[in-house]
Amino acid sequence: MENIDWKNLGFGYRKTDYNIRCYYRNGAWGELEESSSEFINLHMAATTLHYGQEAFEGLKAFRGRDGKIRIFRMDENARRLQDSCDGTLMARLPVEKFQEAVKRVVKLNERFVPPYESGASLYIRPILFGTGPQVGVKPAEEYLFIVFVTPVGPYFKGGFQTTPFVIMREYDRSAPLGMGKYKVGGNYAASLVAGERAHQLGYSNIFYLDAKEKKYIDECGAANFFGIRNNTYITPKSSSILPSITNKSLMVLAEEMGLKVEQRPVPVEELSTFEEAGACGTAAVISPIERIDDYDENKTYLFSPDGKPGAICEKLYKKLRAIQYGDEPDPHGWITVLE
Ligand code: PLP
Ligand code: COI
Repeated sequence: MENIDWKNLGFGYRKTDYNIRCYYRNGAWGELEESSSEFINLHMAATTLHYGQEAFEGLKAFRGRDGKIRIFRMDENARRLQDSCDGTLMARLPVEKFQEAVKRVVKLNERFVPPYESGASLYIRPILFGTGPQVGVKPAEEYLFIVFVTPVGPYFKGGFQTTPFVIMREYDRSAPLGMGKYKVGGNYAASLVAGERAHQLGYSNIFYLDAKEKKYIDECGAANFFGIRNNTYITPKSSSILPSITNKSLMVLAEEMGLKVEQRPVPVEELSTFEEAGACGTAAVISPIERIDDYDENKTYLFSPDGKPGAICEKLYKKLRAIQYGDEPDPHGWITVLE
């Protein structure tokens, strides 16, 4: 295994051995190719560069106590990438090809999958983008799909700890009839200024409200939101947020733990009624929310007066991680064990 200080790994890029590539040319996807280069040779008029014809995914592989490597819900990421392709008029990558590429890239970089005890994981980043030249605003005729991996620790400093978020109405990341439901680079470009501002003020990230009315909760930076009240798991239904695979999984786990689950528009005032709140996503896992400051209305919604994660957040976190690392059975078939 690679000699890395696994326990102190942050969330960043680190070079690994190989990536997998697949080209779309003449109306068809080619064979998967292995590459040991971190670079690509790209036409300067490629549609990805000027018209943002691009989408990506994020998923993880985990090394269990038994030494085996487990990949979490890659079929879901494959389908979400297809949705993003539809939303940007890119060539759809077949689900099987996506899965094959993910399994191969993890296998080839096996020595970078962190050890079980470290609590770290291997982040898998598939990207698909238009490489064909255009100057008119039109979809490309050629595409490239790449999957690379990088070992990562917690997304927010300190791992499973509460952090603060901030509502700032002067920033939107996506509109109700726009691209928020797709995982496309433009949404992240649109969030950089707000994210930097939030970081400078000491927050984990911005807490977005719906762009049209600023009445409902959307999501927290690059993670979905959930609140807990009266043994109920409440999470926003919105056309401008990313359908999180972690959130979808947590809704199943919450129900199995005997919680009620509600997915519906959540008015911002409802924040004052939650006993616990969390941000969830592949990178974030569950990041319990300490408080949300409403910057414009000079108001604070406090969820964790003692700074500690709430009991239900912790239970959900432990359950999800136990399935991912193979400590508990996988009754829903979410795990692919690497051969
Ligand atoms: N929302 C946004 C904007 C994201 O970038 C992510 C990360 O993928 C999520 C939510 C969480 O989604 P998932 O749980 O599928 O990683
Ligand atoms: C993820 O959770 O996979 C994300 O995409 C978050 C961020 C690194 C973009």
